[in-house]
Amino acid sequence: MSEQNEQGTTAAGGDALVEQDHAARAAEAAEATPPVTSATPAATGAVPVAVEKYRPAVVADADGIAQAVQLLMQGGVVAFPTETVYGLGADAANAEAVARIFKIKKRPQTHPLIVHIPDASHLERWAVDIPDTARRLVGRYWPGPLTLVLRRAEGVSDLLTGGQDTIALRVAAHPVPEALLKAMSGGDDGQRRIGIAAPSANRFGRISPTTAAHVIADLGNDADLVLDGGACEVGIESTIVDFSRGEPVILRPGRISAQDIAALIGVEPGVPDAADVTAPRVSGSLAAHYAPRAKLRMMKRTAMIDALSAHKGQRIAALALEVNMPRLAPGLVVVVPAVASRYAHTLYANLRALDAAGADIILVETPPGSPAWAGVHDRLSRAAAATPDKPPKVEKAEKVEKVEQVEQVDKVDEVENP
Ligand code: TXA
Ligand code: MG
Repeated sequence: MSEQNEQGTTAAGGDALVEQDHAARAAEAAEATPPVTSATPAATGAVPVAVEKYRPAVVADADGIAQAVQLLMQGGVVAFPTETVYGLGADAANAEAVARIFKIKKRPQTHPLIVHIPDASHLERWAVDIPDTARRLVGRYWPGPLTLVLRRAEGVSDLLTGGQDTIALRVAAHPVPEALLKAMSGGDDGQRRIGIAAPSANRFGRISPTTAAHVIADLGNDADLVLDGGACEVGIESTIVDFSRGEPVILRPGRISAQDIAALIGVEPGVPDAADVTAPRVSGSLAAHYAPRAKLRMMKRTAMIDALSAHKGQRIAALALEVNMPRLAPGLVVVVPAVASRYAHTLYANLRALDAAGADIILVETPPGSPAWAGVHDRLSRAAAATPDKPPKVEKAEKVEKVEQVEQVDKVDEVENP
């Protein structure tokens, strides 16, 4: 098994974490995946817009969890951490609350949601025709960064499934959703569909948030509550495997790789057939998705160095695997080690930080092509396919204010001309 999976399944766990304060939790997350470099902007929580003007996040301790549970039960919308990215959650049984998720995200209603469930014993309440291979996968990787798409059980709401006959289910390896779902399971009769519908807590098409500050920077006060559980350990969204048509198909790569799945179930998962109009729809599979505001271009190192020296008048940033880069303005170079899990852990935070530093273009050094990197490649190539919108002037001003914050921690990444 790859080093990726070992980390993926040990993301977090135990009730103890819920009791801890924010600083301790952040430290624990940092320990789960050691800091990428001392200069990683991710560590600063730097975000593209000033979040101070919005309602602050609430620490995900026992009181915070209790507040969140109350809100969820009353039909509220709550953002919360998972081991992958932050989710925007509502009681899956409450249609009005679920409808608000779509509104807040500005997400088309035809794009289905992931439902977070308490544990694998709840599968049958939501799904039918569950293949043995799916059960084996769940036995190994739940709780963990894995989402299954299965044929939905009768009566599962169209709102959750986008009108499709399948439902996406996940058990997150994080004490916060675990505690929320436990509290919502009170009085369980063994049949009730208990779940929190929770897509990533970003606006449609944007980079998923991996800290509470990212959520607030994206959504402002739109969620009723943002629970702060520190930085997400995995950093990219869960692997989605579709079992609704028998043979497994990876709809979205993530930390759990095709190789890991094949090793466990003895079947190499397929890839989506772009020509098949009846295939399940995944918004994250749109060519242009997960976009930073700056234009992102992926290229080999030599091309990157040429591009950097040829640029004129634009603020060019670089996300690189090695240090020897031509001199760039402070805050505009991030160096990430070539370890897939560590790269993914800070990917979105790094893109946000480079956006915050006012980059017009982000040049990304093409990462290695081995299977462990599939999730990172997927997100980078979709981000590269996106057309950035021009941020309004006022946002630009906010960005410039924030550059200093990035500069301070990023200084050691400033490198001389080779
Ligand atoms: O790591 C994650 O999976 C995060 C955390 C918060 O759980 N959630 C997440 O949700 O990434 P979201 O909604 O941003 O992405 C879920 C993807 C979407 O692209 C959606 O279209 C797809 O899953 N999806 C949901 N239900 C589906 C279904 N029934 N068939 C096919 N795709 C589905
Ligand atoms: Mg998403």
